[in-house]
Amino acid sequence: MIKHYFIAAMAAALSLGTASAWAQTAAPTSVSASTPIGAEQGQLIKRGEYLARAGDCVACHTATGGKPFAGGLGIATPIGTVYSSNITPDKTNGIGNYSEQEFDQALRHGIRKDGASLYPAMPYTSYAKVRPADVKALYAYFMNGVKADPAPNRPVDITWPLSMRWPLSIWRKVFAPAVAGDEIVGAGADAQIAQGRYLVEGLAHCGACHTPRGMAMQEKALSDDGAKFLSGGVIDGYLASNLRGDHRDGLGKWSEQEIVDFLKSGRNGHSAAFGGMAEVVSNSTQHFTDADLQAIAKYLKSLAAVNAGVAPLVYDDKVHKALRAGTDQSNGAMTFLNNCAACHRSSGHGYDQTFPSLALSTTVNAENPASLIRIALEGGEMPWTKTAPTQFAMPAFGGRLSDQDMADVLTFVRSSWGNNAPAVTPDMVAKVRKEVSKKTAAAGSAPAAKP
Ligand code: HEC
Ligand code: HEC
Ligand code: HEC
Repeated sequence: MIKHYFIAAMAAALSLGTASAWAQTAAPTSVSASTPIGAEQGQLIKRGEYLARAGDCVACHTATGGKPFAGGLGIATPIGTVYSSNITPDKTNGIGNYSEQEFDQALRHGIRKDGASLYPAMPYTSYAKVRPADVKALYAYFMNGVKADPAPNRPVDITWPLSMRWPLSIWRKVFAPAVAGDEIVGAGADAQIAQGRYLVEGLAHCGACHTPRGMAMQEKALSDDGAKFLSGGVIDGYLASNLRGDHRDGLGKWSEQEIVDFLKSGRNGHSAAFGGMAEVVSNSTQHFTDADLQAIAKYLKSLAAVNAGVAPLVYDDKVHKALRAGTDQSNGAMTFLNNCAACHRSSGHGYDQTFPSLALSTTVNAENPASLIRIALEGGEMPWTKTAPTQFAMPAFGGRLSDQDMADVLTFVRSSWGNNAPAVTPDMVAKVRKEVSKKTAAAGSAPAAKP
């Protein structure tokens, strides 16, 4: 379905490709050249390393088993697979010959050294927010702090005519925002929230996964000017949940400190990171300074709920009592007791920092059950982090439970302990199961995960 929309949008872009669309080329922002030396240069490279982690460049630019930043990771798009580029300072296959301005053109404008437009699989629409001073530090790091590797770049696996790059320049002109300057946040504004916004909307590109996408795969909002920003998106078959103020399926009931804990350690009293978020935590957010994490948390807490009228869920121990008394003999309840209760407990509360709570959980109560079905089928493992080096794992139940049993247990979970979300049907489970098995089969040729 999405594929058809995308092709339609590309076709529309093709037919739109007239002089007017071509006329306005993005004006290159000049980044002043300089030759810092010694300690100052060392500081700049270190700052660049921190920023590269904040931008999680390594996630996409490293193939499974490949050298850091040497590219070659396959990224699925609706029209085929795009491979990340070698961004090590190798002069032949990497970006060793890129000037700072050419690096900036790729990073923030989506334009390659040869003038071709990049696929938006490279999140340059977010990186457009990066201040020139931070671009400079990133450049210093990639030129001096990264080991050169000669791995050649892989061409895209997209068939002609969709493989033509020029429609991408139209996409870019329509959807990419203007790039940032070095403007300093005004004294009157809340500087902490401004710093959080700068990171979330910019380098950390949280919206690339957490914002829903439109017909041409563009993010429906690139900043908190739009109510769709961070309201939940689907990535790799997982729901990257709503990060706005909603109480039921968003961060409404998380405190700032709980958001900080989750991003730093990969877990908190509500939840533990899994799917793409486990990698984001281990590569990127665990390395943020406490000040930056607090800024991010404060900013996220400033985002209004999508559905402000929805009342918060309240814990109800009716089901807990029924399970303990043995009065609920439904297939959902029995399947839960036999497979899930050992860790998540009959109270649904789990164990703090160890087995996440299913009661009032955002993953469980999200309208879209994608992540819920996915983790129940495939299991998961918490990310390893410096502050929480114990990885607890959830086993995969795909091989053990039929579509019907899975639908029953998940529907049970979605309607117990005060949870309140629509039923999961066997058809929904079958659909996710099919996607998961396709993914596993393709894993050898176009890996979807990082090292
Ligand atoms: C979500 C995945 C993703 C992330 C994160 C990402 N990139 Fe990319 N990047 C890509 C892909 C895919 C391409 C190649 C796109 C194409 O071929 O059109 C690319 C291309 C590039 C290029 C262009 C290289 C060339 O051939 O001219 C540069 C430079 C670059 N990325 C730098 C970065 C930096 C620096 C970061 C971190 C701040 C980063 N990227 C983070 C996916 C990503
Ligand atoms: C590569 C995609 C991706 C990126 C980038 C990403 N996330 Fe996530 N995130 C996910 C997915 C998928 C989930 C759902 C799985 C889970 O709950 O761990 C998630 C879950 C979360 C949760 C838990 C929500 C809940 O209700 O349990 C928080 C908080 C979060 N992300 C914050 C962030 C922030 C802040 C950023 C930017 C710094 C970010 N994410 C960037 C994919 C991503
Ligand atoms: C051996 C212990 C164990 C068992 C048994 C188990 N889980 Fe889990 N579960 C975990 C752990 C650990 C996590 C965190 C995994 C991660 O972060 O990757 C988790 C995470 C989850 C989550 C995501 C919660 C969130 O928002 O972070 C859901 C939903 C879930 N389990 C449902 C189930 C269901 C349904 C069953 C039974 C079919 C089950 N679990 C059985 C240990 C278990």
